[in-house]
Amino acid sequence: ATTGSDGVTPREGWSSRSAFILAAVGSAVGLGNMWRFPAEAGANGGGAFVLFYIFCVVLIGLPILLSETLIGRHGQASAPESVRKIAAESGKSSHWDTLASFGVTGAFIVLSFYCVVGGWVLYYVGVFASDLVATGLTGGAFEGRPAEDVEALLPGLFGNAGLMVGLHALFIAITFYFVSRGVSSGIEWVATWLMPAFFFLFLAITIYGAFTGAFSEAVAYLFTFDASKLTGPVMLAAVGQAFFSLSLGVAGMMTYGAYVGRDVNLAGTSGIIAGADTAVALIAGLAIFPIVFAAGLEPNAGPGLMFQSLPIGFQNMPFGSLVGLLFFVMVFFAALTSSVSLMEAPTAWLKEKANLGRPVATLIVTVAAALLGVLAALSFNTMSDFQPLGFLPLFEGQGMFDVLDTVTSKILMPVGAILTAVFVGWIAERRLIDSENGLSGPLERFWLFLVRWLCPAALTVILIVGIFPSIL
Ligand code: PHE
Repeated sequence: ATTGSDGVTPREGWSSRSAFILAAVGSAVGLGNMWRFPAEAGANGGGAFVLFYIFCVVLIGLPILLSETLIGRHGQASAPESVRKIAAESGKSSHWDTLASFGVTGAFIVLSFYCVVGGWVLYYVGVFASDLVATGLTGGAFEGRPAEDVEALLPGLFGNAGLMVGLHALFIAITFYFVSRGVSSGIEWVATWLMPAFFFLFLAITIYGAFTGAFSEAVAYLFTFDASKLTGPVMLAAVGQAFFSLSLGVAGMMTYGAYVGRDVNLAGTSGIIAGADTAVALIAGLAIFPIVFAAGLEPNAGPGLMFQSLPIGFQNMPFGSLVGLLFFVMVFFAALTSSVSLMEAPTAWLKEKANLGRPVATLIVTVAAALLGVLAALSFNTMSDFQPLGFLPLFEGQGMFDVLDTVTSKILMPVGAILTAVFVGWIAERRLIDSENGLSGPLERFWLFLVRWLCPAALTVILIVGIFPSIL
């Protein structure tokens, strides 16, 4: 085994190829697929967004995913340190590590607001569990109560600042517990137990849901391409969603790549990760929108889709309380395997940089992210008028929670991806890249073309037209 940064203790790592795949799929599949994807698709008009999103995953996300895991595996260290090593080996400036420092910062920010939504998921687990106890197994959820009551659950939670902050703290504390235990006995443990459970529940609920909703209407909504709807902001939202969902641009996949053994083919595993993530997002859309349409609800309900529309759907289903409970337990599993990866990126960096033990480094990251997350949680209630960047069009009307989301998905992630593409495509030595990417022949040339030309160029254009739509 290789040794860690102190040169003595063995370096942490995944115990097998499948452990890496489960952990990386676990990082990718999360609230981004189940909650953010339907919300973004609905807010951005459906089909055009979805098809452009798929385009972004294949031609931008996938090559960047391979680039990130490759940097991590070659560097075998925290993300900035891995970039620095590759730059040094290629005879280039060590300042390239800034690209990964942005990433680590981005992961920290996402962690802070991700755990707020994780808290909402815990709340719904509790709500459905108590409903199951109260109304029994066979009937629908919240039997005999009007749909408005079910819809009011989320605003009810938002109005209770103490509960919001408490649940946020609980979710981040659970994340802390697993990350502080280390890569193989904490992070890998979560992934190997929870991801199979997630996929089992996901399949069961989707099959069940496919028989109960307005399926064809949902398919038409999600896959009809209307070119006139593809505006700059919609494109930026789609690229941001692709990065968010694939865990890219925030050093997370670099960090996980550093724990991968030499025997793993990174191109193959990147394909599996991106394929699984996209499949889950699309299936989640196909599970949620039929219910929305069947219940006559609006598809642009945003964050409320998963937390309000879906529970209304569970109302009219046989076994609704049970299905609802299983659904939110499943989302909790998916969210936890993502939040551990968000916490691991800054933790690995701090641990290495300050030469701290893992538990201490994890604790510092947790406390700092929890505090930032409190501001995000309060932006739904006591601090809703606080719009720190409201004077900029991109952040118009946004409270702290939305600002953190926009800063990461629409700025840090695409910029991080541009820098990563340039670094791998132009700065790092070819020989070194060739030995890591697991590709050969035309496929390798195509990947290099994407990383060198298409990704930086397309992302720059999308950023510009997304932030300044009046240019078009
Ligand atoms: N991809 C995760 C999700 O979809 C979120 C995430 C983003 C995780 C960035 C790690 C890094 O829920």
